[in-house]
Amino acid sequence: MSQVQVTTTINGDPVEYACETEDTLLDVLRDRLGMTGSKEGCGSGDCGACSVMLDGALVCSCLVLGVEAEGSQIETVEGIAHQDKLHVIQEKFLEHAALQCGICTPGLIVSTKALLEENPHPTEEEARYYLAGNLCRCTGYDKIIKAVMDAADVMRQGA
Ligand code: FES
Ligand code: FES
Repeated sequence: MSQVQVTTTINGDPVEYACETEDTLLDVLRDRLGMTGSKEGCGSGDCGACSVMLDGALVCSCLVLGVEAEGSQIETVEGIAHQDKLHVIQEKFLEHAALQCGICTPGLIVSTKALLEENPHPTEEEARYYLAGNLCRCTGYDKIIKAVMDAADVMRQGA
């Protein structure tokens, strides 16, 4: 099959790739670019494990075609830490033990960052509502929400 050449920016770096027209952005990230941080939980837009930012919007990368990303700015979980320094959201997930198997974690980190950029003062209810599309089958969510609220506190203090 003929492949399509796509030019994007991923985590601030120019990236070109060739993909089949039916490849999802998640396929491209994981299988063509080796960026395996984004996970495939369901492949149908139901679990949020594949969450990335596409031109400033939070999307399920399993529902976006690789060819649709032409000219786009993509942010993935790999771009959230600054070199060796974890983002405060990542630190708080670790501190609160807000993960077990870890499949949901990259998507939750990306979605939490989107939440806190949009709403730096979320109530617990707002945080739970915003993150409702990110399913976790292990933790029961309480530790995740504690980590999110704690990260929000620290980020408001300018960390
Ligand atoms: S893998 Fe994309 S939403 Fe589940
Ligand atoms: S830690 Fe296993 S699904 Fe969330």
